[in-house]
Amino acid sequence: MLDSQDSAKRAAAGAAVELVEPGMRLGLGTGSTAEHFIRLLAERVAGGLEVRAVATSERSAGLAARLLIPLADLHELPALDLAVDGADEIDPALNLIKGGGGALLREKIVAAAARRFVVVADRSKCVSVLGSFALPVEVVGFAVGPLLGRLGALAGPARLRRLADGRPFVTDEGHQLLDCACGAIANPARLACELAALPGVVEHGLFVGMAAEALIGDADGRVERRLPR
Ligand code: 5RP
Repeated sequence: MLDSQDSAKRAAAGAAVELVEPGMRLGLGTGSTAEHFIRLLAERVAGGLEVRAVATSERSAGLAARLLIPLADLHELPALDLAVDGADEIDPALNLIKGGGGALLREKIVAAAARRFVVVADRSKCVSVLGSFALPVEVVGFAVGPLLGRLGALAGPARLRRLADGRPFVTDEGHQLLDCACGAIANPARLACELAALPGVVEHGLFVGMAAEALIGDADGRVERRLPR
């Protein structure tokens, strides 16, 4: 039985699955909403739909493989037709904060490789200004010490993401994550450039100007299609 937020996520994912056409090269996101998309896509694949997909995390790749969705990597499929992924926050211009699930680096690479990047989310992810959700920044382990201070000054207090047992969280690409309590981000594009310029930062969770549309689900199954404002 799905709770109301999960029903909303599934509704959004269902609308995204309808965008998939035979022969498409797909990007598969990471997180609970993206997992709904993967499960619903697998139903269509089982029914005969032919697609190939690149996953944005080991977790999504494992799920897709178990559900018999044909997988490839970006060497085989350097350009994708459609990437579908969730988000932690979505502003009216469809700028995003992503990386709550720790997969922002591969997610951004896959989104950038796609002709069309569609965000799927429940309505709780829609905000007027980004920044309530702590902004994940993926960094090399060697740079954690200095970056805690640099990010704190630039973006807001930063914390090393840890697992429940206290060990640092390690991403699929072998890096660590610093979560920055930014508060309202007045200019996401400027902050994105400033973050990218810091030595030791591999990538950050601001996705600026990348999403072509957002499919926002509600618990009653309705889905609103939003374009960037
Ligand atoms: C993972 C992400 C996810 O898309 C984001 O955390 C949203 O997750 P969910 O769909 O579970 O709410 O960025 O790195």
